[in-house]
Amino acid sequence: MASIIHSLLLCFIVLSASLSHTHAQLTPNFYNNVCPRALSTIKSVVSKAIRREPRMGASLLRLHFHDCFVNGCDGSVLLDDTATFTGEKTAFPNANSIRGFDVVDQIKTQVNKVCKENVVSCADILAVAARDSVAILGGPNYKVLVGRRDARTASANDANRNLPPPFFSFSQLLSNFQSHGLELKDLVLLSAGHTLGLARCTSFRSRIYNDTNIDSKFATTLQKNCPQSGGDDNLKGLDKSPNFFDNAYFKALLTNKGLLHSDQELFGGGNNDSDDLVKYYSRYPNDFKKDFGSSMIKMGNMNPLTGTNGEIRTNCRFVN
Ligand code: HEM
Ligand SMILES: *[C@@H]1O[C@H](CO)[C@@H](O)[C@H](O)[C@H]1NC(C)=O
Ligand SMILES: *[C@@H]1O[C@H](CO)[C@@H](O)[C@H](O)[C@H]1NC(C)=O
Repeated sequence: MASIIHSLLLCFIVLSASLSHTHAQLTPNFYNNVCPRALSTIKSVVSKAIRREPRMGASLLRLHFHDCFVNGCDGSVLLDDTATFTGEKTAFPNANSIRGFDVVDQIKTQVNKVCKENVVSCADILAVAARDSVAILGGPNYKVLVGRRDARTASANDANRNLPPPFFSFSQLLSNFQSHGLELKDLVLLSAGHTLGLARCTSFRSRIYNDTNIDSKFATTLQKNCPQSGGDDNLKGLDKSPNFFDNAYFKALLTNKGLLHSDQELFGGGNNDSDDLVKYYSRYPNDFKKDFGSSMIKMGNMNPLTGTNGEIRTNCRFVN
């Protein structure tokens, strides 16, 4: 009897080990043996880049989001267009907007030097750089999971289809997030990534001239640097402290001072649960930070390539 139980147990262990291999999970410890200094190296490059230009933290955070929402967190957003290949950089939500590629290149060079071989994926670099950016600018230092590998493809069409535009309504935003396996709470928390960074006039022009759910003084002030025509690239903070990870984003929504139409949709956009979450996080900044970390981990888990799938790119801009 004991030996039957024993062999059943053994069978179970072998089975679950092989299952967990085929569905390889991300873990915080992935680089502990293969390159113990990988994460600290990434952090030091990120930290220098932010010292040089505080906005870079926002830009790196957004890169991870734009990577994950298009066929999973697989580094696809980093691939350059070539004569025979069109990647995601020229897709509508990305063109003339996403940035930070030089810093990613610097991280890759530095990490490959320190690790002495090419072991850290570009997809992981984005996930770690996003976490470090958030932490450096005052947000949570959540335990980022790693072990992703890099895609050999990218799709401009998929980027256009999957990345939510700023003119989306509440219900469009929610269904977009649900289609990525995320829920209302993640929508509200992750949208608050807009506590960092800037937006171009072209992204909020229709809001400040045509929306009715906007504080009128706020709209008038914004119109000065964002005319009806021209000035498309003029920049404005997504909240009033764009270099600090705080809950000013939520406080602004309570008074109709969200910069993007999509931001304001989260409060007063017709969903009471969303309204309640915005109110809650505007009152409890520490809960916001903690829960933001959880939602980031959830976003970072979207369809990673693991095991022997994909590759570890030597240059984040090109497949090997
Ligand atoms: C919920 C749907 C979302 C929409 C519609 C949206 C839309 C936008 C738009 C239009 C901009 C300005 C781009 C420009 O004018 O060049 C922007 C910037 C930004 N977004 Fe989002 N976003 C969303 C969610 C997120 C999420 C989930 C994150 C991260 C967790 C994020 C992080 C950022 C950051 C940090 C910036 C500023 C980037 C910089 O200054 O370089 N966004 N977003
Ligand atoms: C505001 O709405 C009007 C009427 O639909 C439209 O003609 C105009 O182009 C819009 N303005 C902006 C800045 O979107
Ligand atoms: C949302 O709240 C308002 C006011 O408290 C209430 O009248 C309305 O029925 C609620 N809507 C839903 C869908 O629960």
